[in-house]
Amino acid sequence: MNKIAPILLFATAISFSTGCKDRKDQPAAVPTENTEKEASANFSSLLSGVLANAELPQNISLKIQESIATDSAFIQAVNIILQEDPFLWMLIDKKHALPENYEPSDLVKLAKGSYRVGRDGLFLRSAAAASLEEMAAAAKSEKLTLTVSSTYRTYVYQVNVYNRKVKAAGQQAADRVSARPGHSQHQLGLTIDFGSITNAFAQTTEGRWLAANASRFGWSLSYPQGYEEITGYSWESWHYRYTGKELAKFIDTYFEGIQQYALRFLHEWKQANCSTSTSTPPPPQASQI
Ligand code: DAL
Ligand code: ZN
Repeated sequence: MNKIAPILLFATAISFSTGCKDRKDQPAAVPTENTEKEASANFSSLLSGVLANAELPQNISLKIQESIATDSAFIQAVNIILQEDPFLWMLIDKKHALPENYEPSDLVKLAKGSYRVGRDGLFLRSAAAASLEEMAAAAKSEKLTLTVSSTYRTYVYQVNVYNRKVKAAGQQAADRVSARPGHSQHQLGLTIDFGSITNAFAQTTEGRWLAANASRFGWSLSYPQGYEEITGYSWESWHYRYTGKELAKFIDTYFEGIQQYALRFLHEWKQANCSTSTSTPPPPQASQI
């Protein structure tokens, strides 16, 4: 693959996969040396902006830039992820919320499985439930039973969770451990709290097993130890989000296992691509890829 091809592939893949309608119908230009240079400069500037806005540490930004310059693996991973269900990679944090009325349409009730449920009436989106079963069966084959303690929460449920924390500990303390309504990953129906919902869980065999294996099944720890400044929440060794296997691998490979960094990158990339009509080069000819 020539040097320009990954850039064109990346730009095209993203403009075609994020719902940026204004770019879809542009005719494919035959690249000349000049348009290639322009495309390269535009892309570099776009990428720098995305990396800066995502507030990634310098070593991660450098690694991404090097990866893009070296081969197309990073680009292909981004392309695959952005074509998946957007809720898998949607940034939900202190600054980005789901609408109050957002409810997933494919929730399934967790019943009998290779896992244990902490209480009746726990729901997950169907892909997450299927992946949980796959993961729990693998754990079971190693004589471990995963306990699922909390899953999908409605907006209203989160109102109660948050208010209870505020009442018990005050707003400042509550904000370190509980998302405000609309800001909880639990509202996605893609998130599980395992075990005791305390950090004693990290030292249990189940907690250790999940830390070592969850990403193989498409799950990512959302609030790792030592990253409160980045994620907004103190360490939660029990809170895993289903991202799908491709994104879980992407997080581990390029973002040091920190979900927040990867989701910020994808969020900023999408924003940049959709809001800047001249920021990405036109689609390449198939022969260039
Ligand atoms: N405990 C996490 C931050 C939540 O409330 O979603
Ligand atoms: Zn949780």
